[in-house]
Amino acid sequence: MEYQNIIFSTKDNIAWIRFNRPDKLNAMNAQLLGELEKAIIECEGNDEVTVIILTGNEKAFMAGADIGPLAKGDVSTGYGVADSTMKVQERLADLPKPTIAAISGFALGGGLEIALCCDFRLAAENAVFGLPEITLGIIPGGGGTQRLPRLVGLGPATEMLMLGITIKANRALSIGLVKEIVALDQLEAKAEELAKQLAKVPACAMRACKTAMRAGLNTGLKEGLNIEKIAFSMLFGTLDQKEGMAAFMEKRNPKFLGK
Ligand code: COA
Repeated sequence: MEYQNIIFSTKDNIAWIRFNRPDKLNAMNAQLLGELEKAIIECEGNDEVTVIILTGNEKAFMAGADIGPLAKGDVSTGYGVADSTMKVQERLADLPKPTIAAISGFALGGGLEIALCCDFRLAAENAVFGLPEITLGIIPGGGGTQRLPRLVGLGPATEMLMLGITIKANRALSIGLVKEIVALDQLEAKAEELAKQLAKVPACAMRACKTAMRAGLNTGLKEGLNIEKIAFSMLFGTLDQKEGMAAFMEKRNPKFLGK
């Protein structure tokens, strides 16, 4: 399958997934979802890729699911869309490599849900966030009712979900939805800078950290602490732990191997 609805490229150990349906504000249809899954699988399997950046264009990260095909859908259409979307989003959220959503313009509905599956969200000054599904007589079907309250808390999430309001970058920053606001023409450079910073982190520790944090969210504190204990102890079997601690003791910079 060739990419048509996304542009996929890799450079300097960073993979770029760029949504590319500009005439529809990158609205997610089945083809785009399939291509996103393919790109995620390529990132999973390519050892050269250490960090993944998802982005759109100046006007839209993604304005949600493509309403066209959904407008005449029935119950099984709804189930199928939610099911296939969630599978791909889970794959993205579970990627053992760091992910960054670099957001300019609209990040609505499924677009915001994809951003919520990433580890970091950077917002350009013109970014607009929302889960407006309720205004269409539905609710989010790609994890929005679950991931948004977990990230920003029930208060702001309730407002966004139950009223379907959109919020601008400043508010998104104040509720912890995004890490940082950057100038529009600096968005890609800032995302790349963050990616390069993340690429320096030893890969085994990065994997363990992401897995423990995310697994812990799906379980109780006691189980979460046990996950951390096991992951912590396993890292003492890596070369990077030896190197990281030796470098500290010898007052030099570490040279990590990702092993
Ligand atoms: N599904 C399908 N098409 C969409 C879309 C979506 N989610 N979002 C935008 N588009 C299309 C528009 O229909 C329009 O296509 P057209 O030129 O063929 O008519 C094109 O993208 C440009 O959008 P437009 O509405 O003209 O831009 P705007 O700047 O006036 O408004 C939005 C931007 C984002 C406010 C508006 O497009 C919108 O509300 N989109 C739907 C958002 C949504 O509800 N998402 C959740 C879906 S479940």
